[in-house]
Amino acid sequence: MQNRIEIEYIYGATLRVAPFFFTTMLEIKSPQTESDWKAYYALRFSVLREPWNQPLGSEVLADEDQAIHAIAVENGEVLGVARMHESAKNQGQVRCVATATKAQGKGIGKTIMAYLEEKAIEKGWTEIVLEARENAVPFYQAIGYRIVAESYLLFGEIQHFRMQKSL
Ligand SMILES: CC(C)(COP(=O)(O)OP(=O)(O)OC[C@H]1O[C@@H](n2cnc3c(N)ncnc32)[C@H](O)[C@@H]1OP(=O)(O)O)[C@@H](O)C(=O)NCCC(=O)NCCS
Repeated sequence: MQNRIEIEYIYGATLRVAPFFFTTMLEIKSPQTESDWKAYYALRFSVLREPWNQPLGSEVLADEDQAIHAIAVENGEVLGVARMHESAKNQGQVRCVATATKAQGKGIGKTIMAYLEEKAIEKGWTEIVLEARENAVPFYQAIGYRIVAESYLLFGEIQHFRMQKSL
């Protein structure tokens, strides 16, 4: 079981404590090192492309150099990724949000979105828009986004919804 620890006593007895939750620090930052960037794109690929049999490389978009990128790192492991670019005057668009499958539902997506919203506010942007996969709509609604319109179908099967949040 995850987070289970075993405390070994000097006389050989083993005490199992489960569940035991370590206090871990989640750090949100921009990827800096080559290893950060590698982990960033690898996580994007494994969560957003590989399950739909998309080729390696399809996770890299044409305008990466114009985006703000964020990674969520816990115990040295990249567990969340997202990017945001200026899509219109005072408007940011968030794309490619993904939390590692094993770490979903623990607040990582919410924290990385809060980081990007803070960056958008610093830039004086007044709203964020995004194209949400249908499965992720409740996540974005939980953090204050609303559906504006039904939009496109990705890979012939993933319905998207345009969503918006005023900052
Ligand atoms: C969607 C995704 C990014 C959410 O990230 P996450 O780290 O799992 O989400 P969090 O744990 O931060 O959840 C934040 C809030 O949204 C809610 N939420 C998340 N997913 C939800 C879901 N499917 N249904 C309902 N609520 C959901 C959580 O309950 C939480 O609410 P709370 O703050 O009231 O507790 C992540 O699940 C993921 O990567 N999914 C697969 C890839 C994907 O669809 N990416 C989005 C592309 S648009």
